Amino acid sequence: MEALRERLAASGQEHLLAFWNDLSPTDQKEFVADLSSIDFSEALSHFEHACANMKEMQTKKDDRLKPFPEEQIASVARSSPKELDNWRESGLKEIGAGHVAVLLLAGGQGTRLGVDYPKGMYDVGLPSGKTLYQLQAERILKLEQLAGNRGKVPWYIMTSEHTQGKTIEFFEKHGYFGLDPKNVVFFEQAMLPCMDFNGKVILAEKGKVARAPNGNGGLYKALKTHKILEDMKMRGVTCMHVYCVDNILVKMADPVFVGYCTERKADCGAKVVQKAFPTEAVGVVCICDDKFQVVEYSEITLETAQKRSLDGRLVFHAGNICNHFFTVDFVMSVVEKHEKDLQHHVAKKKIPHVDEKGMVVKPTQPNGVKIEKFVFDVFEFAKNFQLLEVLREDEFSPLKNGPGAEKDTPESARQSLMNLHYRYMLAAGGSFRDESGQTLPLIPLRRSNSQSSFLIECEISPLVSYSGEGLEDLVKDKYFKSPCHLNGSVEKENGESKPKRKRLSSK
Ligand code: UD1
Repeated sequence: MEALRERLAASGQEHLLAFWNDLSPTDQKEFVADLSSIDFSEALSHFEHACANMKEMQTKKDDRLKPFPEEQIASVARSSPKELDNWRESGLKEIGAGHVAVLLLAGGQGTRLGVDYPKGMYDVGLPSGKTLYQLQAERILKLEQLAGNRGKVPWYIMTSEHTQGKTIEFFEKHGYFGLDPKNVVFFEQAMLPCMDFNGKVILAEKGKVARAPNGNGGLYKALKTHKILEDMKMRGVTCMHVYCVDNILVKMADPVFVGYCTERKADCGAKVVQKAFPTEAVGVVCICDDKFQVVEYSEITLETAQKRSLDGRLVFHAGNICNHFFTVDFVMSVVEKHEKDLQHHVAKKKIPHVDEKGMVVKPTQPNGVKIEKFVFDVFEFAKNFQLLEVLREDEFSPLKNGPGAEKDTPESARQSLMNLHYRYMLAAGGSFRDESGQTLPLIPLRRSNSQSSFLIECEISPLVSYSGEGLEDLVKDKYFKSPCHLNGSVEKENGESKPKRKRLSSK
């Protein structure tokens, strides 16, 4: 106890023992274990780095920026069908050979969404009632089938103390959605103590330190701790698609992206979307101080954000959508050589804490900071970094906020998915009619009197189609009514799960 007291005093954290005498012997024992697991000098050094970084972020970076080199970007919209087919084919070959893994970042607390369970378990209200986790699992099953079922696509899921238990329980309850549990690997990221603005660690309870996950860049430390890269190598995996949980349109290990990155021999790649307008609050991938970086909108002036090139596009247009390609060797070098040097970012947060009387308080104003690393801060270490610009309406619709918020809500996610599926149906030669036999418009509309119902409701199970392929024989020259649900199922064949089509549920 004396040694602990001295250790706390040496780093200015003796306030943590303020309620020591109120704790039961068992709670005292647990608290000592909690405190002993924290390296306070490391935590303080993270805090100082993060504060220095925050100051730096307040000074605009305009003079230090260069746009991303055009020769290292390809665009899905501006590539020929032949080019896209080549990338798709070569991606499917890699997948079929068992070289590709997907890695989900699912350790975030999802505070903006306002639910007390992991975001992946959220049901945005699709006709099928599928959650984000289920959609993603089924996309993997379908992808394996498209790649000829020759190789499996292992799914690595990074969780945190907040999400681990509930996520695993959910997968078990749903029989891993048809995936082989041996190919779904959960691993937990580390947590860091939360501090007040003076670097004092916050007490969440009388005998418990407030902690938060160490950011999605905590991935690299977690990969090392849990020997995940070794597991990948053992399975023959050479590259991975890393993505965040909340994008309902995410294409798991998208063969086009995988093929594009492998054909260009990239060790690191990212999907981006064209920034919609200069003041859109997204980070852009660009060069800062001669290094690849994601620069936040708040770090540049409006004038720079508005700059356009001769073709009319924004100069800083490459909006980051948290979809990354990494080779295993690249990540190995990051983990071994650079993890410690990754930037610390600081976010001011409202952190529940105990007051001087020992009562738990939920603050209404930010009272402290969370320190995080970011997954994309490794871009600067890439030897060959490539971007693929994709279409926002096809690939990016994140669920960030609760129902009724201004953007990135369950309604917008649901609408994006159903609009995409409607376009798939039209492209495959199907069409929609209303009750009176009138053909419905090609552009789906919201009903003016309701935010949450749409003129056309159309959902295609990922077990039927991964990205619009294989629909012709089901829908060509046929008429459908909304709501329309092209359903699929997982069936066992020789002990293997196989995606199967089901009857159409549209009349
Ligand atoms: C993220 C990107 C941002 C991008 C946006 C697109 C980062 C740091 N930022 O922002 O550039 O424009 O997505 O939607 O990548 N997570 C963890 N552990 C953590 C914190 C987060 O696994 O400690 C996971 C979350 O579960 C989520 C993902 O990382 O899957 C993104 O986290 P979030 O905090 O939602 O990032 P955004 O601010 O939305």
